[in-house]
Amino acid sequence: MDKLDLFSGIYKGKKVLITGDTGFKGSWLCIWLKELGADVYGYALPALTQKDNFIATGLSDKIRHMDADIRNLEHLQKYFNEVKPDIAFHLAAQPLVIESYNNPHYNFETNLMGTVNFFEAVRKCESVKVAINVTTDKCYQNNEWIWGYRENDAMGGDDPYSASKGCSELITNSYIKSFFGKGNTAHVASGRAGNVIGGGDWADNRIIPDIIRAYQSKQESVMRNPDSVRPWQFVLEPLFGYLKLGEKLWTNGKTFSGGWNFGPAAFENYSVADVVDEVKKIIPAIKIDASKTSEKLHEAGLLKLDITKAVNQLGWKPKLNFEDTIRYTIDGYLDELNSANNIYNCRVKQIESYCKK
Ligand SMILES: NC(=O)c1ccc[n+]([C@@H]2O[C@H](COP(=O)([O-])OP(=O)(O)OC[C@H]3O[C@@H](n4cnc5c(N)ncnc54)[C@H](O)[C@@H]3O)[C@@H](O)[C@H]2O)c1
Repeated sequence: MDKLDLFSGIYKGKKVLITGDTGFKGSWLCIWLKELGADVYGYALPALTQKDNFIATGLSDKIRHMDADIRNLEHLQKYFNEVKPDIAFHLAAQPLVIESYNNPHYNFETNLMGTVNFFEAVRKCESVKVAINVTTDKCYQNNEWIWGYRENDAMGGDDPYSASKGCSELITNSYIKSFFGKGNTAHVASGRAGNVIGGGDWADNRIIPDIIRAYQSKQESVMRNPDSVRPWQFVLEPLFGYLKLGEKLWTNGKTFSGGWNFGPAAFENYSVADVVDEVKKIIPAIKIDASKTSEKLHEAGLLKLDITKAVNQLGWKPKLNFEDTIRYTIDGYLDELNSANNIYNCRVKQIESYCKK
C-alpha cells in the first residue's frame, strides 16, 4: 500500500494544525503527517535545546511553525483564522509531574486554559472539521487498581499534572456537549496514552532520556520508582491511534467523539526496573545507581489502560511488544548519536518499518 493511502488517504492535501509541534510527540506527529502528504502548521513555544527532535530533524524548514504561547487566546485564534486548518491536534502542554509540583500555577494555566483556548479557536474557525485533544492515562482518578481504566471511569488526579489532565478531559467533554454536538460543528475527541518513549525525547526526569544522557557523559543515572509499572509505548503507537481517530472522525463523524485509551496490551506489565534491564541488553555499558531511588513526591504506583474500545471500534491495536518497544526507542537515540545521520530520514525509516507491522 502506498503510504499516502494509509488512514484512507484522508490526510493527503489537508491543512493540519498541531499545537506543541516543537515537543517530542508533536514533532513525530508532524513528520508522520508530512509523509502522509499533509500541509502541516505548528503553534508552540520554541524548542528547548538543539537536541530536541524538532531541531534535530530540521522541521522548521519543512512545516510552517509559529513560536507562540497557548495561553494567548487572541493570538491563537488569529493563527487559526489565518491558517484555516481542516484538522487540529492539541499537544501543547506542561507534560511533567515533577515540573507541576515546582510550578503548579503555570501547569494549571497551560493545561487548563490552554485546552480552553484550543477549543475556543476551533469553535470560532469554521474550516476545522476534526479536533483531537491529547491527554494522558493520568487523567483518571487513580485507585491503584490492578485492572485497566476504561473511558467511562471517573476523572481525577492528586498531583497537579494529573489533576490538570483530568480537568482537560472535563473541558473537552463540556465543549463536545455544549458546542460541538450539533449541526456542522467540528467532530471532537481526546486521546489518552501512557508513558510514551522514543528517540528525540530529551525531557528531564524521564527514565530513558536520563539513561542516555548519563551514558553519553559516562556517568551513572539514578532510577526513580524502580517498581512502578507503567504503560510503556513507543511514540508511534499512540500517534497511530490519534491519526486513526482523526480518520474515523473525518469519515464517520460524531459517533467517534469522546475519550479513547491508547495503551499497551493488558499482559504487557513492565516496571521501570524492567525497562532498565531491557536497555542494558542493547547498551551493556550503561550504569544505573539503584540505591538512590528516593522519590519524595507522590507519583501513582500502578496505572493501566483498558484499550478494548479502541481495539473494537477504531481497529487500532498496539503493534510492538515490550522488547520491540525498547529496541525502537534505543535505536532512535543511537541514530542521533551518530552525527553522520540525517535524523529526519531516520525517523521516516522508523515510521515505514512500524507501518509494515
Ligand atoms: N511523553 C509522554 O510520555 C506523554 C504521555 C502521555 C501524555 N502526554 C501528553 O502528550 C502531549 C505532548 O507531550 P510531550 O511528551 O511531547 O511533551 P513536550 O514537553 O516534549 O512537548 C510539549 C509541547 O508543548 C509546548 N508548550 C508547552 N507549554 C506551552 C505554552 N505555554 N504555549 C505554547 N506551547 C507550549 C512545547 O513548546 C512543546 O511543543 C502533552 O499533552 C502531554 O501531557 C505525554
